[in-house]
Amino acid sequence: MIRLSDDEVTALGERGYFVRDSFLGRELALRVRDAAVALRDSGKMNRAGVGRTQHQVAAEVRNDFIYWPDETDSSGALREAWAHFALFQQHLNSAAWLGLTRFELQLAHYASGGKYERHADAFAGDDNRRVTAIVYLNDQWKPQDGGQLRIYTEPSVDLTPSLDRLVVFLSERIEHEVLPNHADRFALTAWYRSR
Ligand code: OGA
Ligand code: MN
Repeated sequence: MIRLSDDEVTALGERGYFVRDSFLGRELALRVRDAAVALRDSGKMNRAGVGRTQHQVAAEVRNDFIYWPDETDSSGALREAWAHFALFQQHLNSAAWLGLTRFELQLAHYASGGKYERHADAFAGDDNRRVTAIVYLNDQWKPQDGGQLRIYTEPSVDLTPSLDRLVVFLSERIEHEVLPNHADRFALTAWYRSR
């Protein structure tokens, strides 16, 4: 199910985020996870950066490795995931009138000992990233694995990064953090823009 429910649209407007437990479907989510593992194993993921250009490496802020798939990726699973997020853009627009025109997709791997400190995905004043949508790729995630996404609403909310779970939030409004993880943690994130 890719369409947004009425409750999801309301939550996005009022609280700034919503969560659903199934997005790609288990079978595709596992294939995307396998593609991520293969990219990691072949050294095709690069150390993530911070700042406006994201070219500054700051391991004390975030220490994940990333890869940017597009619609022509050599992995069929990543192309299918791309198509899912493209359809989701249309549903975000028709349900929530966001005027989204394009998105970028990022695969991220946090090795054990990873984290990403509190931040927002869009810099205030820049009309850039409007909506963040993250699907998690971790089967059998256990509480002791940590790595929750902490969303700084009032009160804050901690979300377990379990397989195929989707979290969607307004990029400028919702500050968030990846708590320290103690097992390999994979996620696929789309950032939707309006120009
Ligand atoms: C990010 C981020 C959160 C997560 O990449 O900007 O905040 O749960 N990721 O992986
Ligand atoms: Mn973020």
